[in-house]
Amino acid sequence: VSTPTFTSAAETIRKKRDGERLSDAEIRAFISAYSDDALPDYQAAALLMAVYFRGLDAAELATWTDAMLRSGTVLDLADIPGFKVDKHSTGGVGDKVSLILAPLVAEAGVAVPMISGRGLGHTGGTLDKLESIPGFRTDLSLSRFRDLLLEHRFALIGQTAEIAPADKRLYALRDVTGTVESIPLIASSIMSKKLAEGIDGLVLDVKTGSGAFMSRIEDARALAETMVGIGRAAGKQVVALITDMGEPLGRMVGNALEVAESCDTLRGDGPDDLRTLTVALGAEMLVMAGAAADVAEAEARLGAILNSGAAFARFERLVEAQGGDPRALGDTSLLPQAPAIETVRATRDGVVEDFDCAEVGRAAVVLGAGRATKEDVVDPAVGIEVCVRRGDAVQVGDALFHVHYRERARADVAAARLAAAVEIGDEARRATPLVLERIG
Ligand code: URA
Repeated sequence: VSTPTFTSAAETIRKKRDGERLSDAEIRAFISAYSDDALPDYQAAALLMAVYFRGLDAAELATWTDAMLRSGTVLDLADIPGFKVDKHSTGGVGDKVSLILAPLVAEAGVAVPMISGRGLGHTGGTLDKLESIPGFRTDLSLSRFRDLLLEHRFALIGQTAEIAPADKRLYALRDVTGTVESIPLIASSIMSKKLAEGIDGLVLDVKTGSGAFMSRIEDARALAETMVGIGRAAGKQVVALITDMGEPLGRMVGNALEVAESCDTLRGDGPDDLRTLTVALGAEMLVMAGAAADVAEAEARLGAILNSGAAFARFERLVEAQGGDPRALGDTSLLPQAPAIETVRATRDGVVEDFDCAEVGRAAVVLGAGRATKEDVVDPAVGIEVCVRRGDAVQVGDALFHVHYRERARADVAAARLAAAVEIGDEARRATPLVLERIG
């Protein structure tokens, strides 16, 4: 595949801008040039924006995903015994499920080769969360990844230079160019990485609601169907759960805060919604792997493992193997702590009717828990503790959020945005189930 000249890259952008179909060669040339650093960010950003508005048809999407997948190596995990299954979320606020799920499913006997990402837009990323554990390394080689899988039945690493490098670059660019919320771009990003992992099966957590990239359920369903289709065409077993992201998952939003909450949940405590969703996704993984006869049996087993503390112990061993300090999991005061806390309080009596959940995520980014530019470094300590859930009764002066901050000016902006992100009214709305639909 030839690298496009400056002129032909501009031509590709113009065609997509005008709603024309791109040829296989144009797509492959573009993706390979960008991943080889032969195309400037501004041209890639312009094409992403054109795709955002014009979309990709099924054939373009298949080529786009394949080009991203082939920008790197595809792992062969045939030497790891048993069915290998991973989970991927389309991104949420307070979504720390992966930290709990991977050791939990591994403890239940199924291998989980998990390659995770960083925060994107208003959503958090598993790698950023894990890196708040002192010493923890996510930049491991694929051969070390394989060794960890053999020994621990799971591992938690980041996308190496070998795995879908085109996605790695495009993901960072989309994060800061307003081009995240696109069905073909999300589907190709997720599936190119997952197909490179050498898995047999994949469980997708497709988020919907105000904290998701696809806030409307119709769009979430279309995204789920698109990803399930890409995975099946590649010969993998794929199931998607469409789950509610209308309020933050659990109580904590922010990297070290989320690690602490994950540790609670791994020890059988933790918030109900977080535990319920983790167990629901894990049950799909167990059934897919043939490790449980049905979802009910799988859920009972996973619940018992959480209560026994065995998943927590497995997580501790892996954290140590990846260079982290396991003492910080048992005593979470050893995790990075923000120097100051401010409380956002209710200004009227009433019932929590709704959240603008993405706005809660953006407030966390303002504090420094996520990135506003590609070069930003995340602050592991800062974040938000969400004190109320939809349906809770509140009185004037009750705490709505605790803002864990480092810089006063950022805390002021975050607090104002948080105050506006929660709707207090006279009557609770009908409760939304956590798992809305299952596709696949
Ligand atoms: N997660 C990903 O890996 N990619 C996206 O585009 C969105 C969520």
